[in-house]
Amino acid sequence: MKLGIIILAAGQGTRMRSALPKVLHDLAGRPLLQHVIDTALELQPELIALVYGHGGELLCQSLPDAPVVWVEQAERLGTAHAVAQAMEAVAGLDRLLVLYGDVPLIRAETLRHLLDCAEGGLGLLTAELADPGGYGRIVRNDLRHVQRIVEHKDADAEELAIREVNSGIMSLDRAQLQGWLQRIGNDNAQGEYYLTDVVGLAVADGVPVEGVVIADPNEILGVNDRVQLADLERRYQHRAAEGLMRAGVSLRDPARFDLRGRLQAGQDCLIDINVIIEGEVVLGDGVQIGAHCLLKDCQIAAGTQVLPHCVIDQALIGPDCRIGPFARIRPGTELAGHNHIGNFVETKNAQVAEGSKINHLSYIGDSQIGRKVNVGAGTITCNYDGANKHRTRIGDGAFIGSNSALVAPVEIGAGATIGAGSVINKNAPDGELTLTRAKQMTLKGWKRPQKEQK
Ligand code: UD1
Ligand code: CA
Repeated sequence: MKLGIIILAAGQGTRMRSALPKVLHDLAGRPLLQHVIDTALELQPELIALVYGHGGELLCQSLPDAPVVWVEQAERLGTAHAVAQAMEAVAGLDRLLVLYGDVPLIRAETLRHLLDCAEGGLGLLTAELADPGGYGRIVRNDLRHVQRIVEHKDADAEELAIREVNSGIMSLDRAQLQGWLQRIGNDNAQGEYYLTDVVGLAVADGVPVEGVVIADPNEILGVNDRVQLADLERRYQHRAAEGLMRAGVSLRDPARFDLRGRLQAGQDCLIDINVIIEGEVVLGDGVQIGAHCLLKDCQIAAGTQVLPHCVIDQALIGPDCRIGPFARIRPGTELAGHNHIGNFVETKNAQVAEGSKINHLSYIGDSQIGRKVNVGAGTITCNYDGANKHRTRIGDGAFIGSNSALVAPVEIGAGATIGAGSVINKNAPDGELTLTRAKQMTLKGWKRPQKEQK
């Protein structure tokens, strides 16, 4: 069976009150539309046709690598008209699944179930809602067989009382749909070509129609304004947090956790409140993340503890490190393991070998630091001369005295000691004390100036 997926995304999204097309608004770190495309890809279709309208050029520009066929719906004449625009793109396929760019929480598993139930006929994903207002209603006969869908605006009082609603998501035989689309008119309250009319046509043609009631109605919620967007974000985060906890991650408060990418965590990791995970993050066994940390595209090995208020971005952190509080670990930082990075330390493009410590108030950039090095408080690597970046190398076991400036390119030898307050711009030899420091002196009997008498 050759599956094609049609994603409708030609809506104007006026209620977002935004210059950005609705489906490009961000949910959990990805555009709404990207969520739908990613879910569609899980079903391994032959093709995804994306129907765009208003601001369509922006969609193509924003998702240039999306493996979809872009189909323009120049005029927004209804969902059946939108699907009709995509029929040329899906010619030759057997089965079609219609999804919506603004319904991002739908799961691949649910769609697979719908495809299974609809085999040969027409499958509709429906939901029982306490408040069905606005949705198309599913009209069933006495045998509970689906007869047709009536749109809210076209429904009479009896139909409005129906609580089973149309999600809009459906699975159809492509050839059958092709025929039905010719027969759909726009004689209705909105003057639109309704895709939902295919249901009545299928029943008339004796094609089996399966209404599959969804277990979790959250999955079919759409986004029309920013209030709904924020609401869906919380629902998404709730689901993500629950998934992580069930997989063995402890979250101090699942309501104060945000996943904007993917988190892969070992056993017994503990994440405190207000942690944001972005991109691809991997945590080893027993990693602890303190409150208010941002972790982005990084790997943190087993046993490492990240204390509160740290930002870790594109870094590799080895095992049993202690980072923070208030550390900023920038791209290209590699800590080998058993390292201590303390408060107000910034590292960037720095490879730090095992056991070395940078505990207070430092900037370490473009540097290679050996094993068991102690970088004293306030040490700065002066890596930038205003035009180019240069590297600092520090050998194993070196001790850098506090408040030193290491002017790169420069090398500090193994076992070297740098006296506090030094400005080091020539290489410092192995095993020796190097310092640049004016001699201390005392001016005996010196008096502070006095205020002049008037
Ligand atoms: C539609 C369904 C309704 C269902 C509801 C679920 C129809 C006629 N009605 O109603 O039964 O309960 O969705 O949310 O299908 N779109 C286009 N081009 C168009 C029109 C719509 O791409 O010409 C896209 C929109 O961007 C949107 C989706 O189709 O993503 C649904 O359109 P919308 O106008 O929101 O339909 P509803 O009236 O909500
Ligand atoms: Ca809608």
